[in-house]
Amino acid sequence: MEKLVQIKNLNMYYPVSSGFLNKSKKFLHALNGINLDIYKGEILGLVGESGCGKSTLGKAILKLIQPGGEVLYNSENILEFDEKTLKQFRKKAQMVFQNPYSSLDPRMTVYSILREPLVVHGIRDKKKLDKRIREIIYLVGLNEEDLKRYPHEFSGGQRQRIAIARALILKPEFLVADEPVSALDVSIQAQIITLLKELKEKLNLTVLFVSHDLGVVKYLSDRIAVMYLGDIVELSDSKSLFDNPKHPYTKALISSVPSIHEKEQQELKLTGDLPSPMNPPAACKFHTRCPYVMDICSKKEPEIVKISDSHCVKCFLYS
Ligand SMILES: Nc1ncnc2c1ncn2[C@@H]1O[C@H](COP(=O)(O)OP(=O)(O)O)[C@@H](O)[C@H]1O
Ligand code: SF4
Ligand SMILES: [Mg+2]
Repeated sequence: MEKLVQIKNLNMYYPVSSGFLNKSKKFLHALNGINLDIYKGEILGLVGESGCGKSTLGKAILKLIQPGGEVLYNSENILEFDEKTLKQFRKKAQMVFQNPYSSLDPRMTVYSILREPLVVHGIRDKKKLDKRIREIIYLVGLNEEDLKRYPHEFSGGQRQRIAIARALILKPEFLVADEPVSALDVSIQAQIITLLKELKEKLNLTVLFVSHDLGVVKYLSDRIAVMYLGDIVELSDSKSLFDNPKHPYTKALISSVPSIHEKEQQELKLTGDLPSPMNPPAACKFHTRCPYVMDICSKKEPEIVKISDSHCVKCFLYS
């Protein structure tokens, strides 16, 4: 399979001021040397509890923030792109955000919202603009009447359709969807998930689909990466991840979703709170919550172990 994105040793440190008068500068290590490939045409799910670094990873691989390491897109390091090359890249790679209430400008009509990216990229011919806007509005399941309306006139699900239309209007090939259904009613979530899946097929997209909810990524993803405090702790094809989860954290996540928790699988409860990302546990970061913790787990960072060609895990139980 062809690699569209290759993420190499990606690190992100956020400066966090602390102490009296913010004198001591500290850093939060949000991405801990991530390595990950995204294949052309796949939907890669990225899951983990809130605060583990999913959005940071999504933004980093679109250069919306500047991490350390490399992000190769079609073999070119986008982190080294100049303004002009970056603008070309922005046409090809887009992001859909979690909150369709804050991500759409309330003063703009849907028409203006969809027109803006086209104009920024030099399409000014009215006929061409209108044609493309009409195409995309039908593609996301809305209609021409909706173009005159303002974001507040729509429901959450419809707003997310508008946000998806905006992300797709320049015909990108890569989409980062960052919790695109997390702000929506459960009854609406399935519609948007189905829409994204259809669009992915129709438009030949490659998608990184981010969610804190394993139940959501299950029905959508070809492969799934499980994240914990800045690390990818397990990466697998979807089937094998659910049939044969390896990492204790993945097992706990699966146990916590009743609808996908198979009876034969032993239940594993996640105990304790997520440690502070400001001050993460040493070595295996999961050792403070892991039921299988061994001596070595708090002393050394586990290596990534290959279980099969499409399944790997970062845990001492398998090395
Ligand atoms: N701009 C920022 N400045 C400082 N810390 C941040 C910033 N953005 C995110 N963080 C912190 O980095 C960690 C990862 O955040 P994020 O990537 O948003 O996680 P997730 O999307 O998985 O919830 C969290 O501890 C969060 O508080
Ligand atoms: S390395 Fe040790 S603490 Fe970490 S997940 Fe594996 S068994 Fe648990
Ligand atoms: Mg997030």
